[in-house]
Amino acid sequence: MKKTLVCKIDKDNIDIDKIQEFGKILRDGGTVIFPTETVYGLGANALDEKAAKKIYEAKGRPSDNPLIVHISDKEEIHKIATGIDDRVYKVMDNFWPGPITIVLKKKAVVPSITSGNLDTVAVRMPSHPIALSLIKESGVFVAGPSANISGRPSPTDEQNVYEEMDSRVDGIILGGDSNVGLESTVLDLTGDIPTILRPGGVTLEDLSEILGEVVIDPGILEKNENIIAKAPGMKYTHYAPNAEVFIVKKDDNYVDKINKLVDEKVEQGKKVGIMCINKNKDKYKGEVIGLGDDLNEVAYNLFKTLREMDKKGVDIIYSEEFEKSGIGQAIMNRLTKAAGYKFV
Ligand code: TXA
Ligand code: MG
Repeated sequence: MKKTLVCKIDKDNIDIDKIQEFGKILRDGGTVIFPTETVYGLGANALDEKAAKKIYEAKGRPSDNPLIVHISDKEEIHKIATGIDDRVYKVMDNFWPGPITIVLKKKAVVPSITSGNLDTVAVRMPSHPIALSLIKESGVFVAGPSANISGRPSPTDEQNVYEEMDSRVDGIILGGDSNVGLESTVLDLTGDIPTILRPGGVTLEDLSEILGEVVIDPGILEKNENIIAKAPGMKYTHYAPNAEVFIVKKDDNYVDKINKLVDEKVEQGKKVGIMCINKNKDKYKGEVIGLGDDLNEVAYNLFKTLREMDKKGVDIIYSEEFEKSGIGQAIMNRLTKAAGYKFV
């Protein structure tokens, strides 16, 4: 058990003395949880092997899963990565600071614990003012996976991150909700064709517009033992709540299908939760939670709702399927994993 320094900081009126205190913890080799626009991150000095190792311990995460290195100034990318070509500049100019991570060949300063033994490094400049200020004041490169215990949904709000991580890290900055709600897009620019290794806030459509051909790594679209996901993180069970999750295919009679399934399960003594688009909320029986009016709201609410369902003690969750355009690709990617690829 660690004594954790926990502090609320207002992102619109940042208390720089407090940020400096947390920055010092990072500089001294400690771990600090901080808000970003995507999800909360669990930070440590990315170039300090001993510090980076603490991240894996706090999360209970396999150490072959590489970490994203966060920077607060675009220029810093040159210190840790090589192969910074026009495409990299285009992505940085258009989307940084923001929810996209770029995978590049790494420089020798990046230890193998941070790169998960790969010869590449994932770099991101977040847009959240607290994240930017913390990275800057720490004076170090900040490795930061999502601040959840491995396998759990990524935390996007103060209460869940505090409940799950207090006494597992040296510091926690509580800075309100993450407004994207899903983790950053991971884009591999080491090869000839830009490849999305994890869909996220910056969409395939956004990227194609500035880069031309962009592909999605086949390893993340379907469960297929023969395809190895290039982002090692994508191979683990992820985003899973305690309840068993099923995605209900949106065919002609999906509303009836869900209600029939609910009846069956309730009969068996199970507590059932339903996640749907807001306009369908009144059509279902059981613990119904509307995820939002549109896909952006669904992304924002997805992880929080999975955790809320756990708090309600739900045994089974049926979720509506969402269209795979724009941010829908990321929503369906996370949902499919939460469901362990189970569709009905
Ligand atoms: O939005 C985000 O990206 C959040 C916030 C905190 O910035 N961070 C995050 O980190 O989601 P994490 O560790 O939970 O996910 C990182 C993903 C994993 O799927 C990992 O395998 C992949 O990025 N990744 C990291 N380094 C990589 C590399 N060198 N090559 C390929 N994939 C990499
Ligand atoms: Mg994660």
